[in-house]
Amino acid sequence: MRLDDVRRVLVVGAGQMGAQIAMQVALHPYQVTLNDLSMALLEKAMTLNRGHLERRVAKGQMTKEAMEAALARVRLEPDLETAAAGADVVVEAIVERLEPKKACFARLDRACPPHAILTTNSSTLMISQIAPVTRRPAQCANMHWFYPPLVMKLVEVVKGRETSEETVELVAGLTRRVGREPVILRKELPGFLVNRILRALAREAYYLLEEGVASFADIDRAVELGLNHPMGPFALADLSGLDIGYNARLETYELTKDPKDAPPKALAARVKRGDLGRKTGRGFYDYSATPPTPTRD
Ligand SMILES: NC(=O)c1ccc[n+]([C@@H]2O[C@H](COP(=O)([O-])OP(=O)(O)OC[C@H]3O[C@@H](n4cnc5c(N)ncnc54)[C@H](O)[C@@H]3O)[C@@H](O)[C@H]2O)c1
Repeated sequence: MRLDDVRRVLVVGAGQMGAQIAMQVALHPYQVTLNDLSMALLEKAMTLNRGHLERRVAKGQMTKEAMEAALARVRLEPDLETAAAGADVVVEAIVERLEPKKACFARLDRACPPHAILTTNSSTLMISQIAPVTRRPAQCANMHWFYPPLVMKLVEVVKGRETSEETVELVAGLTRRVGREPVILRKELPGFLVNRILRALAREAYYLLEEGVASFADIDRAVELGLNHPMGPFALADLSGLDIGYNARLETYELTKDPKDAPPKALAARVKRGDLGRKTGRGFYDYSATPPTPTRD
């Protein structure tokens, strides 16, 4: 398939990432199918998307007609097999665990047209861990967006062991067409570029916290003021969702068995309590007040 032949993009998972990926693609202006486990979840995702676009209309960044047209390009379909039928490119953005992703890819492989390209938005899992469940490993790749996808410019495109050059080029080309900047990784490794660099920073931050050197709020402040980052590693973890960081570390740990890769205690405790960051109103910080206040353990 050539880039010009791509008509319909299927996004599987309409959570924090999938909902906005679908919207960004529909703005550029592809036909999109959005799939999740129920119509209620899909409608919730599109209510959020409408809110994002309405703010653009209010600021004069787009017309109301353009907004309605983009929203109308997203078809909601809770049945995966029906959703997959006309897809040219798929972006899978479900829970960050290997087994559900493999099960999803196996179903997609059976239901998508033979030419379709299957990508995962996983933060850490390599496509070579998932693609063997399909009959088209050359047409599988990582397409890793950043949160929030309606804002963040970067997409990491990762070539797996069996990914073809054509697939990499097509995914990178599609990334450009939907207004994002691809960086191609020609060799896969868990965590890719950005999350490996972030993980190195976060690992040191958790070490300093666990050693009692400073509070997480002060570590965040130091990174903001001393490194000029827009937010420190703990505030960023809250923004991404603590469960995402926790599951990603668990997957890496299961692969490496290196204790340095295991989820840190302060993170695990919050995930166990259901304090998942901004999306639940509480993580490292409590978001019920403005500005957010640091929580205790
Ligand atoms: N949150 C981030 O900052 C971020 C950044 C980059 C990549 N990612 C990756 O994107 C993926 C999704 O993350 P998220 O933050 O959107 O998670 P999320 O929990 O907000 O959303 C996941 C969605 O997938 C749905 N889902 C679960 N199983 C499904 C299935 N079998 N079929 C269809 N839908 C299913 C859930 O109902 C949920 O709506 C993960 O792989 C994550 O690692 C996340």
